[in-house]
Amino acid sequence: MHGDGTGDAAEEQSPLSALPDSGDRDVESTLRPRKLAEFVGQPKVREQLELVLESARRRGVAPDHLLLSGPPGLGKTSLAMIIAAELDSAIRVTSGPALERSGDLAAMLSNLVEGDVLFIDEIHRIARPAEEMLYLAMEDFRVDVVVGKGPGATSIPLEIAPFTLVGATTRTGALTGPLRDRFGFTGQMEFYEPAELEDVLRRSASILGVSLDAEAGAEIAGRSRGTPRIANRLLRRVRDYAEVRADGHVTRDIASAALAVYDVDELGLDRLDRAVLTALVRSFRGGPVGISTLAVAVGEEAATVEEVCEPYLVRAGMLARTPRGRVATEFAWRHLGAGPLQNPRGEGGPTLFD
Ligand SMILES: Nc1ncnc2c1ncn2[C@@H]1O[C@H](COP(=O)(O)OP(=O)(O)OP(=O)(O)O)[C@@H](O)[C@H]1O
Ligand SMILES: [Mg+2]
Repeated sequence: MHGDGTGDAAEEQSPLSALPDSGDRDVESTLRPRKLAEFVGQPKVREQLELVLESARRRGVAPDHLLLSGPPGLGKTSLAMIIAAELDSAIRVTSGPALERSGDLAAMLSNLVEGDVLFIDEIHRIARPAEEMLYLAMEDFRVDVVVGKGPGATSIPLEIAPFTLVGATTRTGALTGPLRDRFGFTGQMEFYEPAELEDVLRRSASILGVSLDAEAGAEIAGRSRGTPRIANRLLRRVRDYAEVRADGHVTRDIASAALAVYDVDELGLDRLDRAVLTALVRSFRGGPVGISTLAVAVGEEAATVEEVCEPYLVRAGMLARTPRGRVATEFAWRHLGAGPLQNPRGEGGPTLFD
């Protein structure tokens, strides 16, 4: 399942994976925006957050607990850091999987100082006992620490300094109701528009000292799947190419040539995405075809095709999941250079409902 570690190995190969690779981790702290004003895009979440933070600041209290939700690489961790910075607060960072024993969480909570931000990444993966401890901590700034075992066990209430919990999750649906309800605010992160990614790229290029033409930025932005992490990674690959094969300056032609080397096409499809679409169109005449049949045709596991390729192909409007199987859309036929004449379904192409 996504976010549980599977698929990482397969995705590591693709420059278009939204999950961080080691190169991303090295550079992400440098490229992270520090202030809300520097944070590109997400106008809705940004405005809502500005209000929540400003109002708390005026009242001199710790703001409500905040949940940030959305696909990988859209800036949840960056926003959590920004929230702490805007509040002039220290941030303690942990993650759901790291909080396996409630004792780990109790230790973390009891060390908090008034006004601190506690950031729990991947909060949907928190273990049950820790989650239950968190309820009380979020609501009453208190935990009950159980001392001893068996009939002699006693529970000692422990006061916790008022803090703000910032949770991040790629799967809001996986959060239990009681946990979700204890957040005063949920910021739903959306994919970025190409123009916003151009801003991200302009900023990253200046930090990394890459000389990037505006058209080159647009070229990279259009292939980045609405995801800043991917945009930043493609920028580094393009920079490498420009340094080795040219004078380091990135023009549109250099960017296109570099991305072709990495099998990133104009719409941000990688080799496997294209293989899936090509099989669908060539071998199955556009579908409908079952996922396992399609997976066999490209020599991949069904889960990889379903979890790694399909979400973007669906979002990009190239593949439809219908009750009878996967179907290539007219857009997919055109993108692969197979004109409407070859599409047995003709101009209109299939709809989601046929
Ligand atoms: N709004 C933005 N403006 C500028 N850069 C951004 C923005 N959002 C993300 N980035 C860049 O993308 C990188 C990845 O962002 P971040 O780590 O915050 O994503 P995330 O949502 O926490 O991902 P994950 O779900 O994998 O934890 C950051 O290092 C930063 O450089
Ligand atoms: Mg993160």
